[in-house]
Amino acid sequence: MKNVLVTGGAGFIGSNFVHHLLASDPQVRVVNLDALTYAGSLDNLRALLDPARHMFVKGDIGDKDLVGNLMRQHMVDTVVNFAAESHVDRSIVGPMDFVRTNVLGTACLLEAARQAWLADRVIPPEQARFHHISTDEVFGSLEEGAPAFSEDTPYAPRSPYAASKAASDHLVMAYAHTYGLPVTITNCSNNYGPRQFPEKLIPLIILNALEGKELPVYGDGRQVRDWLFVEDHCRAIHSVLVNGRPGEVYIVGGGTQLTNLEVVGQVCAILDEASPDSPHAPHASLIRFVADRPGHDRRYAMDSRKIARELGWTASESLASGLAKTVGWYLANPEWAEGVRRSASYQAWIAHNYSGRGGSA
Ligand code: NAD
Ligand code: DAU
Repeated sequence: MKNVLVTGGAGFIGSNFVHHLLASDPQVRVVNLDALTYAGSLDNLRALLDPARHMFVKGDIGDKDLVGNLMRQHMVDTVVNFAAESHVDRSIVGPMDFVRTNVLGTACLLEAARQAWLADRVIPPEQARFHHISTDEVFGSLEEGAPAFSEDTPYAPRSPYAASKAASDHLVMAYAHTYGLPVTITNCSNNYGPRQFPEKLIPLIILNALEGKELPVYGDGRQVRDWLFVEDHCRAIHSVLVNGRPGEVYIVGGGTQLTNLEVVGQVCAILDEASPDSPHAPHASLIRFVADRPGHDRRYAMDSRKIARELGWTASESLASGLAKTVGWYLANPEWAEGVRRSASYQAWIAHNYSGRGGSA
């Protein structure tokens, strides 16, 4: 792995991965292709360890010519595809962007890789890797007590977002089987950590609580998610790139399964401890139950034994330690959050998603 094309590297997980990769592999060069949608920001790429080994390109993964040129020009041997529309609630409001980026965009990337590696042989295919970041949501919803998702769980996506990610996973595997493209996929659970866009539960709760705003919990708040600290996820992807077997899928979970209400309660407790004199403490008093997400998946759980067995990866952060780091990051970087929350498009989304839901997030 010398020249890595990271897509979506100005978003939450992608930017954390770029920071991680530059810091942990002194040989690697990164070309970072990101369309800078509402979810991407160059602020996420400040203070990179070695910026000379990082080149940012603003562009769309669906632009096959651009991607093909980048692959040839930079002798790309590794593609790591984070670029996606990633928010379930937005996919319910407007699914077509999800189909365009997640399905068609991934197809364009695959085509560019097939051309560069298998047709033009810019890089010998045995030295190349196409890694695709996927999600537990492709497996659908688990009943209470049902076994955790594993690499053998059949796909059963239930939201437009999950369906678009499932379609992209199928395309990736089809390129492996049909053309012999060297691919790997990781299906991970809910990430949290620094630089997560505050439309997602944990950063939304932290920032709302700091401002004394309501903390919106969908439905009864008893939906269960498996929480994965983003730096643990980055290590998992890195280990799959280095030691993972082409053609394989790896499940990556944090091993911490809690209800949304419990997670919100933990965030509130950390904030109470960090700022006992806050006029908003106890922060849990700000919790409001609001109308549920349509088609809300009830439970996800991850069986990460394969990646542990084959690659020696396990999550190192507990939810308590990861949440403490996450809250610490948002407290230390108020200007990052202000920039997002002041923007008209963010405010429009919040108004759209929460008005009429019974809360005033
Ligand atoms: P994000 O929304 O924070 O970032 C997505 C990035 O992709 C943004 O920088 C955006 O500008 C960019 N992008 C969007 N459309 C693009 C396009 N057409 N071309 C180029 N760039 C484009 O998402 P995230 O939370 O960092 O998720 C990254 C990946 O991980 C996604 O594929 C997502 O499905 C997957 N995933 C996320 C989670 C999670 O909990 N956040 C969990 C499982 C899987
Ligand atoms: O499971 C992996 C998925 O996790 C990823 O594939 C997605 O890209 C990522 O966005 C995330 O999806 P979720 O829908 O699980 O994340 P979100 O933070 O939006 O919601 C987490 C849970 O919290 C979910 O059960 C819905 C609930 N929720 C969310 C919001 C924004 C609330 O109760 N209130 C809220 O205001």
